[in-house]
Amino acid sequence: MMDMIKRFKLIIWSAALAAALAACSEGASSERRVKIGVTLYQSNDVFINELKDELTLAFRAKEAPGCGAPLKLSFVDAGGSQSVQNNQVNTFIAQQYDVICVNMVDRTAASAVIDKAAAAGVAIVFFNREPVRQDLMRSSNLYYVGAAADQAGEIQADIIARAWVAEKAAAFRADFGRRVLGRDWAGEFRPVMDLNGDAVLQYVMLEGEPGHQDALMRTDVAIRELTGAWRVKVERLASDTAMWQRSQAREKMAAWLAADFGAEIECVISNNDSMALGAIDALRENGLNLPGASGGRRLTVVGVDATKRALAAIREGSLWATVMNDSKSQAKAIADIAVSAAGGAASTDAEGFDGKFFYSDYKPVTAMNAEIMD
Ligand code: BGC
Ligand code: CA
Repeated sequence: MMDMIKRFKLIIWSAALAAALAACSEGASSERRVKIGVTLYQSNDVFINELKDELTLAFRAKEAPGCGAPLKLSFVDAGGSQSVQNNQVNTFIAQQYDVICVNMVDRTAASAVIDKAAAAGVAIVFFNREPVRQDLMRSSNLYYVGAAADQAGEIQADIIARAWVAEKAAAFRADFGRRVLGRDWAGEFRPVMDLNGDAVLQYVMLEGEPGHQDALMRTDVAIRELTGAWRVKVERLASDTAMWQRSQAREKMAAWLAADFGAEIECVISNNDSMALGAIDALRENGLNLPGASGGRRLTVVGVDATKRALAAIREGSLWATVMNDSKSQAKAIADIAVSAAGGAASTDAEGFDGKFFYSDYKPVTAMNAEIMD
């Protein structure tokens, strides 16, 4: 009896599925598929790869279950070459793609891409690497999705400064207890930031690609906020680009640790997580920032992005904090704008879209909330 019921259910279910599929393919064949092309500046970039995964999900979510607007989504990798990317855009246009999403290799070279697309009436959604304003104003169906870079610097400075101020307060309490009360009133004090106790934060800065809007802003604003708004005294021991890359940052950090100021470094401020993790690779090779609570001497390392690997490093205690570059909300905005632009008017329900630009908010991530950000 049970078997019969099961078989009966199965038959009904299969019939329903077949009907649904038939309805779908009918719908799909009468409707032209919207074609979306995406070109990435280079695939060897951890954040861009996470953004790509989010983009795939966001575009798939645009296809209602079963038979919503069917999309053709194609990703290509420009491999760090602007001329390769220009050709990719030309090919998408020749193949009658409706919208092209462009992660520029050289953000100052957008005009060639824009003119081609404008002539063909194709909308462009730029993302992550922001073309200059003048270019974005060249025609109406051009959009940009990214994050407000100065905010990342502000939040990085805030996270460092709050901990710095708390540490100074704890040092004061401990000192007051010993001198005035004659006992360890506030418990044993051990500095975690100002390792040499001179009330100055000795730091090194790992910068992203020169000329990238995020690298310039994050570097400047982080230090401006730390020293200006928060009045933290800092000493820059070294600063250099590692091109967003973990391996280059590891080399830079190894050289800095071996330099005569190496033992004085207290803090590593990095424009992104990949480079922060590269610095940690070098620290570990020198017996520093080892995972776990008893990991010995530990420098304060701060990144930006909140990539999966960075969140894991925060949980194990080698990376101190990061600032989330919200790839999920950027991906959703890109997909919303792209699909709606294909139909005429670009829109997204993401708050803050002004018809042309969407900037996601950055968020602080420390051991307190790393768990829920994953
Ligand atoms: C990210 C970096 C990434 C770069 C690529 C930045 O916004 O923070 O991790 O390498 O974009 O353009
Ligand atoms: Ca110091």
